[in-house]
Amino acid sequence: MRHLVVQWGEKFSGQINVAKNLLRSENLNSMSSGGDKQFEGKITVYVVICGIIAATGGLMFGYDIGISGGVTSMDDFLERFFPKVFERKHMAKENNYCKFDNQNLQLFTSSLYLAALVSSFIASKVCTKCGRKITMQAASIFFLLGVIFDAFALNIAMLIIGRILLGVGVGFANQAVPLFLSEIAPVHLRGALNILFQLDVTIGIFVANIVNYFVANIHPWGWRLALGLAGVPAIMLCFGSFIIAETPTSLIEREMLTEGLAMLKKIRGVDNVQAEYEELLHASEMARQVENPFKNLMKRSSRPQLVIAISMQIFQQFTGINAIMFYAPVLFQTMGFKNDASLLSAVITGIVNVLSTIVSVVLVDKAGRRFLLLEACVQMFITQVAIGGILLVNLKSTNEIDHTLATWVVVLVCLYVASFAWSWGPLGWLIPSEIFPLSTRTAGFAFAVSSNMFFTFVIAQAFLSMMCHMRAGIFFFFGAWIVVMGLFVIFLLPETKNIPIDEMTEVWKQHWFWKRFMDEDTKDEKAKN
Ligand code: BGC
Repeated sequence: MRHLVVQWGEKFSGQINVAKNLLRSENLNSMSSGGDKQFEGKITVYVVICGIIAATGGLMFGYDIGISGGVTSMDDFLERFFPKVFERKHMAKENNYCKFDNQNLQLFTSSLYLAALVSSFIASKVCTKCGRKITMQAASIFFLLGVIFDAFALNIAMLIIGRILLGVGVGFANQAVPLFLSEIAPVHLRGALNILFQLDVTIGIFVANIVNYFVANIHPWGWRLALGLAGVPAIMLCFGSFIIAETPTSLIEREMLTEGLAMLKKIRGVDNVQAEYEELLHASEMARQVENPFKNLMKRSSRPQLVIAISMQIFQQFTGINAIMFYAPVLFQTMGFKNDASLLSAVITGIVNVLSTIVSVVLVDKAGRRFLLLEACVQMFITQVAIGGILLVNLKSTNEIDHTLATWVVVLVCLYVASFAWSWGPLGWLIPSEIFPLSTRTAGFAFAVSSNMFFTFVIAQAFLSMMCHMRAGIFFFFGAWIVVMGLFVIFLLPETKNIPIDEMTEVWKQHWFWKRFMDEDTKDEKAKN
């Protein structure tokens, strides 16, 4: 009862905040709001070009997610590097759920994410000391090296070294690109530009699905082409990054004030950028005073943001999405689809993923974060349980399931992917990027990126073994996590739609649970005075 009353109170005060913000935004016209201040500027062609080029970092990430599932289901690839899996796959009596259970095969997929996890912390330092542009260039070089190792691999060692280099590239790109996009965007377009990154991730996955489909029939080197084509977005980012600007924030942070001011004028397309410039100067001065952002992040008052950023990443991965993104072709083959049919089904889920992400771009600032996340929990829960139920009843160890039922599973997978794509997919990245105060923003974001990579690694490494042991129960396992994350959103995730980043602390102070952490902080401050 008490909770209900508290929630109503919260909802009511949330509505007042939203109303205040709407009123404010109506007065903005061509101005952008930075908290209570207003900055001049328009969307320049230059910003659009920079945004498109930088977002190719998302393409690199997405292409990798999508390509590994297809490659690991190709016979030429399996026969050459994983002969045991190849034999098992073709043995009629082999258990359906265990055909692909092989630690080395999973290591091929997961090693990339382990490397990305470690490198995102190094990338956060490079980003601060050398700038976003150099970090993106480094990402594309690591990525290209990885592509060369993988496309020309002669043995497992070369394959894994290639994956590790790709992982370092992904770690660098995922740290620099979202930051870059947020920093060049006019403040009122920050959310939309941030989701551009996720949109590119989904396009990358989709393109990889199509490539898998076409190269599967090129024998015996189709898989080399699939892995080699990952070089295309890397080359685009490498050459493109010579055209793009360094962000004014990074230039000012590194004390290149004149260059920072000139760049700000260039990307905003107006001369009067004094207000925004001063804000950036102030913000970078404040950030400089924080000697160790990582230490600052451990303070009690950072607990709400840190817990939410890390939980969003754990939950994003425990929706089970990457079981589909990495292993959809493998999963469809498990149900008895032939090679082509399973790769084609992966193409279908890929297009659903892209289109539903666009839904999120349109809805996120209207319907709000909580609504999208909760709606998706319901849709994902129902579809996971239905898929689990169908497989439990119909897919035994050594049979194939009926064609109509298998088609139903593909439809359910599409409904599941759609709900992920308009919620936990983009919001998993957006929410951590908007809740930290400036003093802990890059460090906090590095934690978010690395947690994402860690749990992506866990799922990539464990899924095929889990499927072998838990069989259809794997879908109920993810379903149970979805209930937990729904409760998390209901009780612990406040709405951040339309709240300026500078006023975000108020959200924690008014929240029934998180306010206790802010109270302590206020008490500490009072005691010091
Ligand atoms: C996630 C990836 C996932 C992708 C699917 C991203 O937000 O971080 O792990 O594969 O969405 O579209």
